[in-house]
Amino acid sequence: MKILTLIALCAITTAHKITELKVPLYADPRRAAELSCHFQMDDQKLHSVKWYRDMNEIFRYNPSQKPPIRLYNITDIMVQGGDCQVDSCMVRVMPPPVATRAAYSCEISTEGPKFQIARQTKHMTVVAMPDKDPIIIGAPKLVKPGEQILVNCTTDYSLPASDINWYIDNEPAKTEPWQHRELSAPQPGGLRASWRILRVAVPSTASGALRVRCEAILPVEPPVVRDTMTIITVYSRTQLSKYVSNRGIQMDYKYSIVLIWTFKVILKFLSL
Ligand SMILES: *[C@@H]1O[C@H](CO)[C@@H](O)[C@H](O)[C@H]1NC(C)=O
Ligand SMILES: *[C@@H]1O[C@H](CO)[C@@H](O)[C@H](O)[C@H]1NC(C)=O
Repeated sequence: MKILTLIALCAITTAHKITELKVPLYADPRRAAELSCHFQMDDQKLHSVKWYRDMNEIFRYNPSQKPPIRLYNITDIMVQGGDCQVDSCMVRVMPPPVATRAAYSCEISTEGPKFQIARQTKHMTVVAMPDKDPIIIGAPKLVKPGEQILVNCTTDYSLPASDINWYIDNEPAKTEPWQHRELSAPQPGGLRASWRILRVAVPSTASGALRVRCEAILPVEPPVVRDTMTIITVYSRTQLSKYVSNRGIQMDYKYSIVLIWTFKVILKFLSL
């Protein structure tokens, strides 16, 4: 019984731990991300705080050394700065301009001779979300049955670049192999726009309207989807013939008024 209490007491007194690890789930490649590690030493003395990206050390705080903070640039990543308080250390990193997921770990070590370690890890994914919906270029307002049109869907800049799917009346549109997704040149941070064209062959039996929709998908977990739809009206033959016959009736009516008027004038003339 006494031994158990002693062990429990030891466990409490040696409890140095990481109380909070703040690593953003997503990092924008255009700005630095701030990561912080909060810890509690209790009766223990702090020897060092280290930050790792995957297996590589990027930051070390050693209060007994000069300078106490050292930063390590590694491939892919620029460590911009770091700062420590009594109970926390933060590090600022510039994410690489590629869509990557990396593990960031904070490690707290007590003074010797024990050098006990507490460690926590969280993942950060480099992503730049699109700000705008995709746009469809080249869609006419009106088409004739049997006509062929070419539409172009362009997405906003993002990292990774968006995938594009086309739908006609909510059915996935059939695309030909040459109608694959194309990418723009990269912007700062590695962001790219993408575009994909679709040839729409309006069926000769089509009537009413075609709902052409472009879907832009950011391939992250969970995927981010934005879309745009355009409605293209199809000339219908019945509407067209009705329009023509209405015109015809109006013409006849106008002509008859003219005829009556002429007849009246002649009558008047004769009566004189
Ligand atoms: C890391 O790289 C950046 C840019 O090349 C440089 O300004 C900075 O001084 C480097 N830091 C270290 C600790 O080497
Ligand atoms: C589609 O639109 C993009 C820009 O919005 C343009 O760069 C590209 O050339 C267009 N593609 C075609 C085949 O018109």
